Amino acid sequence: MPSDSSLLIRHAQILQPDGGFRVGDVHIQDGKIVRIASHLELPSDRSIHEIDATGLTLLPGVIDPQVHFREPGLEHKEDLFTASCACAKGGVTSFLEMPNTRPLTTTQAALDDKLQRSAQKCLVNYGFFIGATADVLPDLLDANPTPGIKIFMGSMHGPLLIDQETVLKKIFSTGSRLIAVHAEDPARIQQRRQQFAGIADPAIHSQIQDNQAALQATQLALRLSQQYQRRLHILHLSTAEEAELLRQDKPAWVTAEVTPQHLLLNTSAYETIATLAQMNPPLRSPHDNAVLWQALLDGVIDFIATDHAPHTLEEKAQPYPNSPSGMPGVETSLALMLTQAVQGRCTVAQVANWMSTAVAKAYRIPNKGAIAIGYDADLVLVDLNTYRPVRREELLTKCGWSPFEGWNLTGWAVVTIVGGQVVYEHGKINADVRGQALRFDA
Ligand code: DOR
Repeated sequence: MPSDSSLLIRHAQILQPDGGFRVGDVHIQDGKIVRIASHLELPSDRSIHEIDATGLTLLPGVIDPQVHFREPGLEHKEDLFTASCACAKGGVTSFLEMPNTRPLTTTQAALDDKLQRSAQKCLVNYGFFIGATADVLPDLLDANPTPGIKIFMGSMHGPLLIDQETVLKKIFSTGSRLIAVHAEDPARIQQRRQQFAGIADPAIHSQIQDNQAALQATQLALRLSQQYQRRLHILHLSTAEEAELLRQDKPAWVTAEVTPQHLLLNTSAYETIATLAQMNPPLRSPHDNAVLWQALLDGVIDFIATDHAPHTLEEKAQPYPNSPSGMPGVETSLALMLTQAVQGRCTVAQVANWMSTAVAKAYRIPNKGAIAIGYDADLVLVDLNTYRPVRREELLTKCGWSPFEGWNLTGWAVVTIVGGQVVYEHGKINADVRGQALRFDA
């Protein structure tokens, strides 16, 4: 798999920016899409690498806007190389990563360190949130490049937990860059943790961190966003109540995301996969699944993130509540959602919008999220005709498991292209490819 400067994709079913499809060829040069036509005649030149995409569908590469890749400091769970291999296999060409690494990403120096590590070992494009603490306001304002400020309003220990409204107000009222919130109310969770202490059934997790805890925090974040007219993104929206709240009143500057697991799994998963189903915010009821789906279809929820949060099987084997929360996702998210599309729940174009176009728009990432002349050649060719199950032994994430193991899916990536370079093709990773740091327009 060469990383040529010129690449020709032939006979693909190409997703157009208007949501329609056409069969044709795409010519890529120096990392950009330069020509799209029904048939391209190019001079026979051995430096042009051709891919026969007959029967395959070409989509913009997935931009996963919420992942935890564990480097630096927690590399026994995952690192930027293994995570980016998993991305390439899953059709994810760019990611936005969270600051709960060790050290925490709360300073420009920590951000620069992640960017440097990524330049050396990351196969796909990367961006990193800066984490809010009570005392780093200058770095929050000036850090660059970053998609925004991450606030953990609950579900976190240590300095990343912001549980005081006065501190939240300070952050919301200073500067203008996007604030992304993990919204769960820490006081309510603390009180319910005491109430349900001693119960080792992991299903209690969804009772302790209940719908009300999520709703209260989301209400507060929305109120502050309205008060200060501040760009707000609500991470992994998980409850029917939050979706209904946004349906009633969602300012133009507010966006929200949902994970595939909050759409497709619910509390019944504890019976089959126990602590592997444990995440924050927790899995909810089938009713929540249905309301979240409708909110996504109606545009109340803007896009999809995986919240890829790997932990080892040994860590997950500890009894609740010592078992850590989180599950991996980048390798399965696109196939999960495209399977839903093929089965009629939504369209393939909607999936591409939720997993690429709308993310690029919300985070103001230039030249990504569409198959159009002049756009970056971050692309994925998927096979919508073949079903294959999620198999543990095939996973590239270091944690080596998936909550969707055994699910029979279609829409798997066949070829993934990052900046015009083939990073994944028919089951093989090209580990020579490197992604680039994402840019975020002001
Ligand atoms: O379940 C989760 N795990 N949710 C988060 O927000 C953090 C994550 C982690 O880093 O493990």
